[in-house]
Amino acid sequence: MRAIVIKRPGGPEVLTLEEAADPQAGKGEVKVRVKAAGVNRADSLQRMGHYPSPPDSPPDIPGLEFAGVIEELGPGVDHLQVGDKVFGIAGGGTYADFVIAHSRCVARMPVNLSFVEAAAVPEVFITAYDAMVSQCVLASGETVLIHAVGSGVGVAALQLGKLFGARVIGTARSEDKIQRARSCGLDHGLIIRDGKFAEQVKSITNGAGADIIVELVGGHYINEDVHCVATKGRIIVVGLVAGLHCDVDFGQVLRKRVTIKGTTLRMRPLEEKILATRMLENHIVPLIEKGLLKPMIDKVLPLAQASEAHEFMDKNKNFGKIVLELSK
Ligand SMILES: NC(=O)c1ccc[n+]([C@@H]2O[C@H](COP(=O)([O-])OP(=O)(O)OC[C@H]3O[C@@H](n4cnc5c(N)ncnc54)[C@H](OP(=O)(O)O)[C@@H]3O)[C@@H](O)[C@H]2O)c1
Repeated sequence: MRAIVIKRPGGPEVLTLEEAADPQAGKGEVKVRVKAAGVNRADSLQRMGHYPSPPDSPPDIPGLEFAGVIEELGPGVDHLQVGDKVFGIAGGGTYADFVIAHSRCVARMPVNLSFVEAAAVPEVFITAYDAMVSQCVLASGETVLIHAVGSGVGVAALQLGKLFGARVIGTARSEDKIQRARSCGLDHGLIIRDGKFAEQVKSITNGAGADIIVELVGGHYINEDVHCVATKGRIIVVGLVAGLHCDVDFGQVLRKRVTIKGTTLRMRPLEEKILATRMLENHIVPLIEKGLLKPMIDKVLPLAQASEAHEFMDKNKNFGKIVLELSK
């Protein structure tokens, strides 16, 4: 099969198109012919040598999500059929013609989406739904602050926030991304130039602060978060592109009785990934099929141009998702 391989840690140029051995489906697994694969920030981190894949995934083929067709059933799989259109998350290896997935870690594809559109859904909508709805228990009427609102996860969180009746404040470092987020329903956009936003969030909320903060940037943003989160507010740390460390004023955390949580999808054990996939099929697919949620795709490139896709993402140019198309 064709596969994009990380030859050595480095920039986008280390991604090479190669021939690799076809993987085989084991007991309880399925072999999926990947038609399209979403590109994620974690793929860049893996390419740079900062985020190794979990032990049960290929160490050198990136890719966390796929949409495709079941090619082969492993022993013991009787609830799926060869030819079914499926999509889902993987620990790695989706930048390739075939990927092996546990049979409960694939979801049926929404009937109204193409393979390219479907490949833009699993990672960002599962992450956003799990963080905001399942873990932070978003209620209608609450205010949500979403950092990097133009990122793949950011746009998914924005759509979910609006659908669940929240007021959404979003941050980005350019006017262009804020404008594009406004066209997706963003209520208040903040262009961040000096890393500061707490005073503006307090002003928008008449001093009350944001009930939920979806932290996709990390670093020094987290201390600003604790200064503009509401009493009994929830901060969920999903991404750390700006850094792993910062000084936090825990006086604010204590006085306001704030909950700060961290979350990750890729490193979860199989049983939790199965639950995440069931949530995708049972809660997110129906909303997509009703036209209430839509994948936001910025760029589609063929597999051979994976390094261009990474370069675009590393330069923070994408609004929403980048997708690699493997075959029609
Ligand atoms: N925990 C999990 O399970 C999980 C799952 C998926 C994603 N994530 C994380 O969630 C975040 C979004 O992921 P994604 O794949 O959707 O990302 P993405 O589409 O690549 O977007 C990331 C955006 O972050 C902003 N950014 C980058 N560096 C920054 C910095 N130093 N300061 C401020 N903003 C910065 C940029 O937007 P602007 O141009 O607007 O600044 C960039 O476009 C990432 O941190 C990723 O690692 C975590």
